[in-house]
Amino acid sequence: MLFDSHAHYNDEKFDDDRDALLASMPENNVGLIMNSCSSLDEVPLIFGICEKYPFVYASVGVHPHEVGSMTEGDITTLREYAKNPKVRAIGEIGLDYYYDFSPRDIQKKWFARQVELAKELNMPVIIHDRDAHKDCMDILRACSVRETGGVFHCYAGSVEMAREILDWGMYIAFGGSLTFKNSVRPVEVAKYVPLDRIVIETDCPYLTPVPHRGKRNSSLYIHYVAEKLAEIRGMSAEEIENITYENAKRCFKME
Ligand code: NI
Repeated sequence: MLFDSHAHYNDEKFDDDRDALLASMPENNVGLIMNSCSSLDEVPLIFGICEKYPFVYASVGVHPHEVGSMTEGDITTLREYAKNPKVRAIGEIGLDYYYDFSPRDIQKKWFARQVELAKELNMPVIIHDRDAHKDCMDILRACSVRETGGVFHCYAGSVEMAREILDWGMYIAFGGSLTFKNSVRPVEVAKYVPLDRIVIETDCPYLTPVPHRGKRNSSLYIHYVAEKLAEIRGMSAEEIENITYENAKRCFKME
């Protein structure tokens, strides 16, 4: 059974077939899905999806792209939303210096504030770190993320950085980029991370794995990530599926 630890089924790319697609998950060996949130506007639709599908859970949080106009009132709103029993994480939160859609000082401020909220609520964090490794690690260290844990989504850092993340008790997520031909560093990291700290994800509708790269992604393709990981670790895909399923449940405190 597979656990897709990072998906965006609220995305408009699923508007035409969201229900048919989600209804087909159980028969396709997808047992659990974490729907990651990027902005407060998305929450009503995400909660609607969670209510309809018992196997879909949610995070709430504001993505670095969206923090430009964030206020302390939004933290209060997030705290309220987090009372929904399907909410199991604060995310996705972090820093994105690739796009820089929000000023960096603003990104850092609201990233740290949301890590503090996660600690207050005793919820794991879902981290988005794009081209911002140093500042991201500095903030997580300063906020003692080890008190609440969580996952680095679509991990793109080094083995050395992974070592510190693992020391904090966090999990490392691999997605479609692991299957890309030019994927050297993720493969190196995937060899290194202890088996009990790896989770897998699609980040759908984005980051579609080989051989469907270019098409819209969905959790129906997550088995390609499991298969690639199995090949890297010299194990069966079924073993990887089961291990990463249990890991994600533990990461999101679902047991
Ligand atoms: Ni995402």
